[in-house]
Amino acid sequence: MGSTFDMVDLIRAKRDGRRLGDAEIDWLIRAYTDGAVGDDQMAALAMAIVFRGLDAGELSTWTAAMIDTGERMDFSALRRPVVDKHSTGGVGDMITLPLAPIVAACGAAVPQLSGRGLGHTGGTLDKLEAIPGWRADLAPAEMLHLLDEVGAVICSPGPGLAPADRKLYALRDVTGTVESIPLIASSIMSKKIAEGTPALVLDVKTGSGAFMRERERAVELARTMVGLGRSAGVATVAYVSAMEAPLGRAAGNAIEVEQAVEVLNGRGPADVVELTLTLAREMLHLAGIEADPAEALRSGRALEVWRAMIRGQGGDPDAPLPRARHQQVIAAPRSGVLTRLDAYAVGVAAWRLGAGRARQGDPVQAAAGVRWHAGAGEEVAAGQPLFTLLTDTPERFARAEQALAGGWEIGEDAGPPQPLVLERID
Ligand code: URA
Repeated sequence: MGSTFDMVDLIRAKRDGRRLGDAEIDWLIRAYTDGAVGDDQMAALAMAIVFRGLDAGELSTWTAAMIDTGERMDFSALRRPVVDKHSTGGVGDMITLPLAPIVAACGAAVPQLSGRGLGHTGGTLDKLEAIPGWRADLAPAEMLHLLDEVGAVICSPGPGLAPADRKLYALRDVTGTVESIPLIASSIMSKKIAEGTPALVLDVKTGSGAFMRERERAVELARTMVGLGRSAGVATVAYVSAMEAPLGRAAGNAIEVEQAVEVLNGRGPADVVELTLTLAREMLHLAGIEADPAEALRSGRALEVWRAMIRGQGGDPDAPLPRARHQQVIAAPRSGVLTRLDAYAVGVAAWRLGAGRARQGDPVQAAAGVRWHAGAGEEVAAGQPLFTLLTDTPERFARAEQALAGGWEIGEDAGPPQPLVLERID
């Protein structure tokens, strides 16, 4: 292992604003992964980093050290150019589901290693598990075969990919140390760089439903991740997109899959289609493929790839999706314009209805969630349904309604429409 250090000295150093040296960082990441440094000391260091940050040199050493704790994947034998996408997560953000098959239908290989939801944001794997038979765990050979034949897989990362991050992220989650730009950037990029994708498009969310509520912080996170990707030889471009209102018309698991299938059938909500095509164009550009993703959608080729991708992972794309046993409608109390629809409120309501989990490992309800029948800026008539709440456990309705209360307003004028895609950073 080379030199060893005293973790207390390193915690004190960061607490007092001193930069950590390369050998110190290499040692502490390795020692934490191996169990020689415990959760208590690592939590203290993470909190010191929340306040003191890491400079560019520390951050690149930290990220490289996390990658070195595990294995790297190798896509070099694939016959298609590889490109990946990552979103920092939001409410109703099911973009990966239509995006991966659209980009694959244009000739790329899209290895989407995805996660599960925690808190008010949903997880791609939880959504897909609503499809009967579908499985998230694929052996590496199975993944490579599907990438070559179908062009897209959405699966869970194996335990060998950046194991330091797996452990550290779980610790940050319970110690109030998630919201740190260097810790988030190194966490996301260590997994993407270890995955071995040569090209990556990032969608960094900002607004009430995002990790980074303030736009300046989202831009800083985007720049930091682009810098890490570039210096590791990954062609990386980031978009900063709005998450003040939820995306689309549904937040939940099965209901977001249903919406993805609508997009693939050419009928999805305009905001979801806009963001999907923006990210798809960028991914194709980075992969060096000249193709029109809108055409892949129109022609039905993307839908065919979706069906093959779901079948390839054991799912039945024609099976009916689970339906909630109970539903409750919230109607508009008066006519006017929906001037505000708050992503965080909708996300928490969906979570409380059972779509999300409070602790890692908890089960989720496939059919739970929230549908909203008008988006921000749209006219509504008194008595029309505004929201449908869905759950298998009706005792959850009251808490979900509480979460939604104050999360929307009906007024006279919504003002000019807010852009969805705010910035492109390369
Ligand atoms: N997603 C990750 O993978 N890591 C973070 O730190 C935050 C979001």
